[in-house]
Amino acid sequence: MKSIILAGGSGTRLYPVTQAINKHLLPVYNKPMIYYPLSLVMLIGIRDVLIVVNEKDKEAFCNLLRDGSHLGMRIEYAIQEEPRGLAEGLLIGEKFLDGDNVCYMLGDNVFFGHDLPKTMLEAKKDVEDRGGAVVFGYYVKDPERFGVVEFDDDGNVVDLKEKPKKPKSHYAVVGMYFYDSRAVEFAKGVKPSSRGELEITSINKSYLREGSLRVKLLGRGFAWFDAGTHDSFLEAGEFVETMEKKTGLMIGCIEEIAYRNGWIDREQLIKLAEPLSKTEYGKYLLRVAEEE
Ligand code: DAU
Repeated sequence: MKSIILAGGSGTRLYPVTQAINKHLLPVYNKPMIYYPLSLVMLIGIRDVLIVVNEKDKEAFCNLLRDGSHLGMRIEYAIQEEPRGLAEGLLIGEKFLDGDNVCYMLGDNVFFGHDLPKTMLEAKKDVEDRGGAVVFGYYVKDPERFGVVEFDDDGNVVDLKEKPKKPKSHYAVVGMYFYDSRAVEFAKGVKPSSRGELEITSINKSYLREGSLRVKLLGRGFAWFDAGTHDSFLEAGEFVETMEKKTGLMIGCIEEIAYRNGWIDREQLIKLAEPLSKTEYGKYLLRVAEEE
């Protein structure tokens, strides 16, 4: 399985902050937002990642993450010319995917949960073994801001709606989708919605129609932030700060994960830590390198 991380879009909900800087490069507490989705795909062993970016931001992403080889990964970049919607990333990524399954991530979603890598690995395996799609529902108080799952009385998923005015459940579909290789073909058939976007919800509905969509619910043990508004951006940062200060362990530390995955050795970890040595982040990497 490969991964595509979406880091384009216009970020208008974070204006004026994102008028000059891409949202996904802003710090969620002590590291760029893009580290959080990237770290998750690393945690499930995916080394091939395509980051979809706006043309003007490509250089900044390349400066930050390069070709991924310093992390033992292969990171590529593809340009989305206009923010035409989330489903377009599948079309842009067709060549990169080359018929493979995909873990499709939204670059502004921040997740945390003890069993998250296990839950993601189960979804990955499920799609690899059975095909189809696995997406996740998360209970929120403001479902109208998101893609929403509709259930019948027996708890079966009967429909999905993008930002419904009158949501029929409190379950938002979060920005982490596991698709088999047919997602690209489904994307080719998607037409712009009433707000003019190629919606990811249309892809999920294609799988639902053919009976191969599995919606897993993330329970109370998980935290999920769509860091695309001023409030949720701040909440995500405060959450990461609190967790990291309590535990002394970092969330979304890509160098640490690459090291623990065995993708880079101790020497490389120390080399990556050196330019960061004035920060707690760099000191943390050195502590990880010193562990027995
Ligand atoms: O956060 C989860 C929600 O994300 C889902 O529940 C919705 O179904 C889904 O449509 C999406 O809704 P948002 O309104 O929050 O999407 P947003 O425009 O914020 O874009 C999500 C990410 O995708 C963000 O990191 C920017 C990136 N993006 C967005 C668009 C529209 C792109 O890379 N290209 C795009 O064209």
